[in-house]
Amino acid sequence: MEYINISTLQNWKNKKNKFAAITAYDFSFAKLFANEGIPVILVGDSLGMTIQGHNSTIPVTVKNIEYHTKAVRKGAPNVFLISDLPFMSYYDINQALKNTSKIIQSGANMIKIEGGKNLIHIIQELSRNSILVCGHIGLTPQYIDYLSGYKIQGKTKKDANKIIEDALLLEEAGIKMLVLECIPAKLSKEITERLSIPVIGIGAGNQTDGQILVMQDLLGITEGKKLKFTKNFLSNNGSIQNAIKAYINAVKNGIFPNKKYSF
Ligand code: KIV
Repeated sequence: MEYINISTLQNWKNKKNKFAAITAYDFSFAKLFANEGIPVILVGDSLGMTIQGHNSTIPVTVKNIEYHTKAVRKGAPNVFLISDLPFMSYYDINQALKNTSKIIQSGANMIKIEGGKNLIHIIQELSRNSILVCGHIGLTPQYIDYLSGYKIQGKTKKDANKIIEDALLLEEAGIKMLVLECIPAKLSKEITERLSIPVIGIGAGNQTDGQILVMQDLLGITEGKKLKFTKNFLSNNGSIQNAIKAYINAVKNGIFPNKKYSF
């Protein structure tokens, strides 16, 4: 696979070429996903649930992210690799710089942080140090108790306007990519059109530049109630390899997520 960098993704945004991303946490799956043509992998703090069995992302540590980033990078040397800065690891500039260094040195190309305009000074400082930063707004699992649970965000006009304002401020502060989680498709369409950087959605409709799914959701092995925006691509495709190919093609063609999987 060709080496993917931030300019590759920016060109795809500019040319309106949609792209698929997926989470991965280990060498073997990262290798398989890269072999099937996944260009972007996220070492998400969702590993708190999918790997460690917690009921939230909050217990995940910087050491955990470093460990999984190293494993994924070995399996997928050419993908664009984003890793999460976990809960409270970027509450001030010193913490953010120290923990970002560890994660970038583990093999990530970009770090992802959750939150809105409260993060502007952190993003500016990381960007001044030539770190690629991905924002994450809408449903932000690190704030799950504050948000009173996993539910769609931006439903009222006031909340939608706040999400738009955060998106614009984060771009101005220096983020080079944005994840929108669990917001109405109409809202993510507007944000994707107003931002010049690539926007990746999860539960945010099919008008974003890219899509991301948690690998266990895509393979249909997540315990408990199925979330509306997740799709099991394995059940109709026979093998994990074919499921990944089907996901990549469905995203490229704007077929996934259709209305059934959107808000
Ligand atoms: O941690 C994660 O896997 C994420 C995705 C849901 C975007 O942040």
